[in-house]
This record gives sequence, structure tokens and C-alpha cells, in this order.
Amino acid sequence: MINVRVIASALRVLAGGELARYHSSRVSEVERFELEMQNLLGVGHVLGVNSGTSALICALVGCGIGPGDEVLVPAYTWVATAAAPLAVGAVPVLTEINETLTIDPEDIRQKISPHTKAIIVVHMLNLVCDMDAILAIAKEHNLIVIEDACQAVGVSYRGRRCGTMGDAGAFSFNVLKNIQAGEGGAVLTNSQRAYTRALMYHDVGSYIRAGRADPSEPVFIGQNYRMTNLAAAILRAQIPGLDKKLKRRRDRRRYWLDRLSGSFGNRIKVSPHNDPDSAVGITVYFDDPEEARVFGSQRGIARLIDTDRHIYTNWLSIRSGVTMHPKLDPYAWAPRNDVRIREDSCPQTLQILERTCEIKLFPEIPTLVYRQFVGKTRR
Ligand SMILES: Cc1ncc(COP(=O)(O)O)c(C=O)c1O
Repeated sequence: MINVRVIASALRVLAGGELARYHSSRVSEVERFELEMQNLLGVGHVLGVNSGTSALICALVGCGIGPGDEVLVPAYTWVATAAAPLAVGAVPVLTEINETLTIDPEDIRQKISPHTKAIIVVHMLNLVCDMDAILAIAKEHNLIVIEDACQAVGVSYRGRRCGTMGDAGAFSFNVLKNIQAGEGGAVLTNSQRAYTRALMYHDVGSYIRAGRADPSEPVFIGQNYRMTNLAAAILRAQIPGLDKKLKRRRDRRRYWLDRLSGSFGNRIKVSPHNDPDSAVGITVYFDDPEEARVFGSQRGIARLIDTDRHIYTNWLSIRSGVTMHPKLDPYAWAPRNDVRIREDSCPQTLQILERTCEIKLFPEIPTLVYRQFVGKTRR
């Protein structure tokens, strides 16, 4: 939310004139942001980058994922989650979600092949994945877990923050996220090696930045995904209010649970949640997709199947199989040729999404105004 505190923080950095992270020998605004996030989340390393997409790519590079690897991704997520493995030469393998709207651990077991290297689990809509089950499967099969927490910045699962439980995590700070700077992102990890590799990759791979990276890691070429000091200042000003904002979401979920158990009758059901005690998002489902469509057409509600490129069937760029150059086609060097995304790859996911609606909780809006806004919602 852009409030006075955010404006003051941005002005302070503008007035100081140091807009780039690596421009002076002083501790940069980006570094201050990273340290504050580390403390808030209880994670070893945070790297500020310029988007959630680049955070996912850096996390994959950090963990050593590349050509020939298969990466399990849920069939319901923003298209960037599936695009990231392709950007590092690996291929995404679609995995079903279950009624919690997050990746289905049972289908993870079905989709693991001898080529599977990693799973990207996605905490969609501020709803958390079944991390205990996922981490147990990953341990059993020696797989890397990357948490796409772009839509769950600050959210907790059984006392641990999203993005800090796997080998690496990714945050987005785009305009729709829990804290935002228009665009922005962060990589989180407890691994010094993953951090060093992500740090190099986000900075054209041309330097070992003194004091932060492991100097024994060989240098390699990367991209420029650096965060600006201005973005960091805008974000820093929002960190103190993040938990309060999440509490407001939690309170509004409770408000809806009360409402739904009363006047709404029993044709509308609340989706199961992988950690109900800390839940800060809410979705509901119907037996009949048409009822979900009607409910989802109201203000502040959205039927999930109608949310565009969050559904794998709408990932036209990936499904077309066209890459920016024919010789840079990860599917061409994938070990199996039957992993391409098809219309019918994940029927369970489509069947869940057409019956499920998100109830938006708008934590930026004061409670009275919110209740007026959603007060007229009908079943
Ligand atoms: C689940 C998920 N993953 C990745 C991204 C990519 O983040 P960005 O838009 O910052 O690149 C988003 C952004 O909407 C997202 O929701």
C-alpha cells in the first residue's frame, strides 16, 4: 500500500541520489531490505531481485537445475512458475492440485520420473501447500524443493514462513502482492551455495561480490536482475505493516467462515486448508460449476477457472512449443518427449477450478468499508 511512510522512504532515497545497489561502498538500501527480510522470515539469505519470475529463475540456477532436468509444477499457478524451468533449459512437468488449490502430494508421487530433479510448489492465493508431506516425498526421492511464495509473502505454515522451508524460495513484489513496489522480487535460501550462485546469476555473473558470496564458487555468466534502491526503499517501508495486514486477512477469513456457516446454507463449502490455524486466504466450492460461475460473477469474488493465465490450458506461449530460437528448445533435449503440456494433462485440476471461487479479502480497505462492499454478496 502506498502511504505516507512509503512516500517518505522513497523520497529519502531519491534525495540521497544513490539509486543503484552497487554504486557506492556504503551499505545499500537493497542490502538493508535484505537484512530486514532475513530477520522477519528467519532465513539465512535473502537476495532482492527485479521480479518474482527472476527470483524463480535465480532459485533454479542457485540449486543447479538445468538442461535434461524435469521440474514438477502445479497445473494451477501463474504461467511464470512453468516458464522459469524452461528459462534454465529444464522442462516443467504438470502436476495436479487438490481441493486445497495447491499441488497434490499424491500426484507428485505419480509424476516423479528418473529425470525429476526438483518440485516447484506454489502457495497460491496466500494458501499454503502441504509442506510436511512435500518435504517428506522430496527427502525420499532426493529432490530439490523450490517454494514459489510469490502470492504468499509473509504467510506462515505451522510456524514457519513460506519460502523458507524448501531449498530455496521466491517472492514477488509486483503491484498485486502482499508488499509491492510495482515490480520486484526476492530469492530466499538457507544454502550458502544456492545464494552465491543466485547472487552471481542476478548480477551478470561477472563478479564475486566481496563479503557476501563464497569465493570458491566458479564464476559463470548470468543476467541483470538487480533490484534498485528505490524499490528497496518502497518495500522497506511496508515491512513493519506486513504482519498486521496478514492479521486483517485472517480476521476477514473468520468473518466469512461465520457468514458462510449462517445465512449461506450448505450448498457452498469452504475449501480445506493445509494449516487452518494460520490461514489468511479463503476459497469456497460448489458441487455444480454453474453455481460457482454465478457466485463468482459478484463483486470481490472470482471463479478460479476464469482467471486467465493461472490455468495451464491458457499457457499458450508454453503450449505452442515455440522458443525464441529453435536451437534453444529445452523440449528438444529433454530425456522424454511425452512431457509437453496438453489440453487434458490435468483433468482433476480443471474440475476443481471450475467449481471453486476465491473470496477476495482486500486487507488495504478498512473493515467497515470492506463489510459494506461484500455485504450484498448472495449465494
Ligand atoms: C504464483 C506466482 N509465481 C510467479 C509470479 C511472477 O512474479 P512477477 O510478476 O513478479 O514476475 C507471480 C506473479 O504474479 C505469481 O503469482
